[in-house]
Amino acid sequence: MLNPVLIAPSILSADFARLGEEIEAIDAAGADWIHCDVMDGHFVPNISFGPDVIKAIRPRSKKVFDVHLMIAPVDAYLEAFAKAGSDIITIHAEAGQHLDRSLQLIRSLGKRAGVTICPSTPENVIEYVLDRLDLILVMTVNPGFGGQSFILSQLEKIRRIRAMIGDRPIHLEVDGGVNPETAALAVAAGADVLVAGSAVFRGGTGSAYRTNIFALRTAAANTVEA
Ligand code: DX5
Ligand code: ZN
Repeated sequence: MLNPVLIAPSILSADFARLGEEIEAIDAAGADWIHCDVMDGHFVPNISFGPDVIKAIRPRSKKVFDVHLMIAPVDAYLEAFAKAGSDIITIHAEAGQHLDRSLQLIRSLGKRAGVTICPSTPENVIEYVLDRLDLILVMTVNPGFGGQSFILSQLEKIRRIRAMIGDRPIHLEVDGGVNPETAALAVAAGADVLVAGSAVFRGGTGSAYRTNIFALRTAAANTVEA
């Protein structure tokens, strides 16, 4: 890989009663980005948090806030997530009819734009929006919950998207069931950002988070590109 692999802990696995402290703990433990999973109980069968929570935790870290919107419709809410302090806003290709328009809207708000696709969605849906993207997120579980198992069929999709990206400055992120073992597979296939919820927050202390992030980083660094 040309760039070092980035680790983005998903705060869905944090202790929500102490969310501000948890953000500070993963920041101190070496997180590169803070991954925020927004769920609406409609696009996905779970509800998490919205822009006001992101706004409240934003001052707790200077790191990149990587906001993954699992909501439909999405356009009407983009401004609120931009104002809340998101740095990257990622939307699902399956969440609306006009992906190109939504991506333009994110960039017009001054934010980096990402698109994500569920495990059953083929990668060709992003072929004609590549030049509007700063990030592509491959879901390696069906979105909605932490703690699920990595779906191995997505490795081929990661390889194909890495080839589609070519020399464009687009991050290729993987989310769902990432642990040191699957991290190595994802990076070998071409991923350069790893989201991990349960694999980072396991242990519940700052020192556990540091150990967990280090384990992911080590697995990623020791990967031989496939
Ligand atoms: C799933 C979310 C993920 C989730 C990952 O819908 O997008 O970010 O928190 O959790 P783990 O790493 O436990 O699979
Ligand atoms: Zn996510």
